[in-house]
Amino acid sequence: KTIDTLGDLRGKRVLVRSDFNVPLDGTTITDDGRIRAALPTLTELLDAGAKVIITAHLGRPKGSPDPKYSLAPVAQRLGELLGKPVTLAADTVGEDAKAKADALGEGEVLLLENIRFDPRETSKDDAERGALADELASLADAFVSDGFGVVHRKQASVYDVAKRLPHAAGKLVFKEIDSLSKATGNPERPYAVVLGGSKVSDKLGVIGNLLTKADELLIGGGMVFTFLAAKGYSVGTSLLEEDQIEAVKGYLRDAEANGVEIVLPVDIVVAPEFKADAPATVVPADAIPADQMGLDIGPESAKLFADKIAQARTIVWNGPMGVFEFDAFANGTKAVAQAMQDAAGFTIVGGGDSAAAVRILGFDESKFDHISTGGGASLEFLEGKELPGVAVLGD
Ligand code: 3PG
Repeated sequence: KTIDTLGDLRGKRVLVRSDFNVPLDGTTITDDGRIRAALPTLTELLDAGAKVIITAHLGRPKGSPDPKYSLAPVAQRLGELLGKPVTLAADTVGEDAKAKADALGEGEVLLLENIRFDPRETSKDDAERGALADELASLADAFVSDGFGVVHRKQASVYDVAKRLPHAAGKLVFKEIDSLSKATGNPERPYAVVLGGSKVSDKLGVIGNLLTKADELLIGGGMVFTFLAAKGYSVGTSLLEEDQIEAVKGYLRDAEANGVEIVLPVDIVVAPEFKADAPATVVPADAIPADQMGLDIGPESAKLFADKIAQARTIVWNGPMGVFEFDAFANGTKAVAQAMQDAAGFTIVGGGDSAAAVRILGFDESKFDHISTGGGASLEFLEGKELPGVAVLGD
């Protein structure tokens, strides 16, 4: 259901769940992509004269207020982007939130403090989450779910609250599902998926699923060392998940059986330690020295990956190829981003880190067909899993 199905919103209090889980350096937001992605829905509601109350989380606080995870920097940035003040409530559903929600005028915005300061938000107990959802629902007349990055979480502000108020999906949720469906539905082939990031264990489900869907799987990032180890190579002091080696061997067998090509790097940028100024060298992927760790894919691999991306008609990229935050280990990620930007096929960047990499490394976002705001959510969508925060909207 779109926002228009909620009827005339003038003067109505609309609770919006956004995903404002942005990277911070102290109190400085280093990538505001998720805040900007929330603007179309918020603007539509404000233009309709609604009183907008936003609930969101930041990081993973331990269920109690913690100034380190305050949404204050988000309130400030959102205000700048909307061109109007955004009031921040001092609590989530407490006295201050209630008073500020009551005082809200048409076309005004209130941001509730980090909803994960309340332990009931992430509780596994339905009744506990329900009690928080009741309190959230009492603040508003309608609910709009627009935090795509969090729809894979069965949490009070994402899932339970939707059952308590007339609800709709926001523009971001629609846009994400529409674009990501181009890869899950009937993708134009060849369909290539570039996977990176640090852990294989985070990507088990998606890899298993992609082995029945994609034509090529290009693997980089920290997780590649578990693949190299599964092939019998020694990986020095690189990140390695020993307990996943057997699973990866299974993937390699399944890939062969299904005719899916798994493309691994042929060279690796290594250094003796995890440091921005550690001396970097390039070695063959099957000859990583015992005292060195792999921190990026090498130049030959970057070229190989770029060629595969250029030939594909649908390309999904999730996870950086190396430690792109350090200049010396950013080239693999830059090469993949560049190849995606130049590709003729339909390009989807999924995952908080790869989306942030595109922006932080200065690529032109408009040259990608879709940059997802979801990390885990976009992976679970690609995996074909039901997302509780989306399912609940369909009643
Ligand atoms: C994300 O960053 O992927 C979302 O905001 C969800 O955060 P979470 O993994 O802490 O639930």
